[in-house]
Amino acid sequence: MKNRIEQLKKEKNAVILAHYYAPAEIQEVADYVGDSFYLAKIAKQSKADIIVFCGVYFMGESAKILNPDKKVLMPDLTADCAMAHMVADGIIDEMRSRYDDLAVVCYINSTAELKCKSDVCVTSSNAVKIVKSLPNKNIFFIPDKNLGNFVAQQVPEKNIIINDGCCPIHAKISAEQVQFERNSHPNALVLTHPECEADVVAMSDFVGSTAEIIDFARKSNCREFIVCTEKGVDYKLITDNPDKHFYYPVPLPCCADMKLNTLEAVLSVLQNEDKEVFAEDTLRSGALLPLEKMLYIAGKG
Ligand code: 13P
Ligand code: SF4
Repeated sequence: MKNRIEQLKKEKNAVILAHYYAPAEIQEVADYVGDSFYLAKIAKQSKADIIVFCGVYFMGESAKILNPDKKVLMPDLTADCAMAHMVADGIIDEMRSRYDDLAVVCYINSTAELKCKSDVCVTSSNAVKIVKSLPNKNIFFIPDKNLGNFVAQQVPEKNIIINDGCCPIHAKISAEQVQFERNSHPNALVLTHPECEADVVAMSDFVGSTAEIIDFARKSNCREFIVCTEKGVDYKLITDNPDKHFYYPVPLPCCADMKLNTLEAVLSVLQNEDKEVFAEDTLRSGALLPLEKMLYIAGKG
């Protein structure tokens, strides 16, 4: 199956982009593997005719919005991020009417409709930098309350109003589970994604995006880590650090939607060129602005 995928990629000038939460065999056949920010940059720059995006829907949709002339395919169009929808109808308008200078800051894990109503997008790796750079005092951060809380801690000079959404997978990681792993592995450092709850973030040695966690583990002299994010990162952590040990909270955090990206589905979508992502014009132009603003601010020195 892998050989056939390689063959089709060449024949059709296609590239495979995969998030670190995609299954290991998908990361193996991917041309680019990364966190949401890296993948958005790659999607924008890509010269391929076809982009096969192995992630969840908002990622494929953002790729299409950033690079509309490309054919963007997803192995399973139903792979969705539950948090992407967690903003109540009307709340953005209500907040805008309450504060004159409000900036709506939208985590990229959101629908294109929500991006359209926002001033700027962020990912977990650039949210602090982008919020700091905004001239506005009042920020409405959607949809993730946990990333919002993390940003609020790092940027105390802003009034950050936080929406009530969260990632159901990260929110299930409890401080008790992490403490249990700590008791078993007292020398391990705790590496945490900012989508985790505040009490887990507070007990962590490092907080960052999936790519930042992977980078930290590679550079660290420590040999043991408790990793508080989705278990898909384990593939890259183990590949990069065969001599280090990685432990996870139990039950293992698993995003079922990310696991819909199977080799069979990748092969099928490359063969049939179905399961294409479309973004209607108004939606596309509305969501493009906050995405491009993110790429611009994050790229500045
Ligand atoms: P990253 O920004 O680390 O890619 O996070 C994306 C995500 O969905 C985390 O749950
Ligand atoms: Fe969405 Fe959570 Fe899955 Fe990430 S892990 S894609 S935030 S549901």
